[in-house]
Amino acid sequence: TSCKILISTTGTKCLCGIVMGRRFLGTRKVEHRDGSTLHFRGLRIYQAVIDELMEKGLNNATQALLTGCSAGGLATILHCDDFSARFSRDVSVKCLADAGFFLDVKDISGKRSFWSVYDGVVHLQNVREVLPKDCLANKEPTECFFPAELIKSIRTPMFILNSAYDSWQIRNVLVPVSSAPDKPWSICKDNIRNCNSTQIKVLDAFRNTMVGAFKVVEDKEDWGLFIDSCFTHCQSLYGISWNSEISPRLGNKSIAEAAGDWYHGRSQGEKEIDCEYPCNPTCSGQLPP
Ligand SMILES: *[C@@H]1O[C@H](CO)[C@@H](O)[C@H](O)[C@H]1NC(C)=O
Ligand SMILES: *[C@@H]1O[C@H](CO)[C@@H](O)[C@H](O)[C@H]1NC(C)=O
Repeated sequence: TSCKILISTTGTKCLCGIVMGRRFLGTRKVEHRDGSTLHFRGLRIYQAVIDELMEKGLNNATQALLTGCSAGGLATILHCDDFSARFSRDVSVKCLADAGFFLDVKDISGKRSFWSVYDGVVHLQNVREVLPKDCLANKEPTECFFPAELIKSIRTPMFILNSAYDSWQIRNVLVPVSSAPDKPWSICKDNIRNCNSTQIKVLDAFRNTMVGAFKVVEDKEDWGLFIDSCFTHCQSLYGISWNSEISPRLGNKSIAEAAGDWYHGRSQGEKEIDCEYPCNPTCSGQLPP
C-alpha cells in the first residue's frame, strides 16, 4: 500500500490506496526443456495480498483506490472490477491506471510486433482467467488483453492517466529494436525533441489511435481522463509530475488536482485530452525520462 496525496481545488486529502506492481496476472506452471520450471503466480499473489489487506482493515474502508503504473497500470485495469466486487455497494471504489494504456499498433516497419509480445504473455502466463468474458466471447484473448478492448467491459469508475506520446510505448511499441530504426529514428525515440516533421506525423498517428480509443469513455460519467502530450511514462509516481509547479497541466489543473476532483466527484466530466505535441507549454518542465 502507499499513500498518495490528492490535491484538489478545494482542499488536500491523503488517500491510502493499493498500488499494483508488475504483472499481477497469470497462474501457470511451465516446464522448460532443460528441466527447470517456471511458475507464474501473479494472480494468486494479487489475491493473497488483497485477502491479507482485507483482514488488516481494508474491509472497513469507506473509500478505496486501486492504482499502478505501466504493467501495474494494465493490472489495475484488469483487476478493477474484481477489486471493486470485494467491497459492499456503499463503499466508494475507484481505480487509477497510469501509463498502462498499451496500444495494438504496427511498428515503423509495419509489423504488429507488440501484439506478438502480448500474445506470448497471454499464452505463457495463462492470463485468460482474468480477461472479461464478454470480450472473450467475440475476440481473441490477446485482443482482449489490450486496454482499448478491456475498458469496454469495466463497470467501476476509472481514471486513465497516460501520455498520448508515451515514451515507453514510442520506444518499445512504435519503434522497437526489432523494427531496425535508422539513426534519425534512434535519436527521435531517445528524445522527442530530436524528431523531424515526418516522424512527428507518425507519432501523431499513434496519438490519434489512443485518443480514438477513449470514445467509449465519453458516456461514462464517473470516469476521468488525463491524456497529456508530454514525452513521458508513469506520471503518478513522482511528485514533480504528479503535483508540482512544473507538473503537466490540462485545463489548468495538475494531475493531482484533476485526479482529486475526479475521485471526490467534485467536478463532472473530469476528462481532459491534450492538443498535439508540442502545443502544451507545461510539458517543458519534464525531464526526458
Ligand atoms: C526524418 O526521419 C526519417 C526517418 O528516419 C528519414 O527517413 C527522413 O529522411 C527524415 N527527414 C528529414 C527531413 O530529415
Ligand atoms: C491556473 O492555476 C494556477 C495555480 O493553481 C492559478 O494561480 C492561476 O490563476 C490559474 N490560471 C487560470 C487562467 O485559471
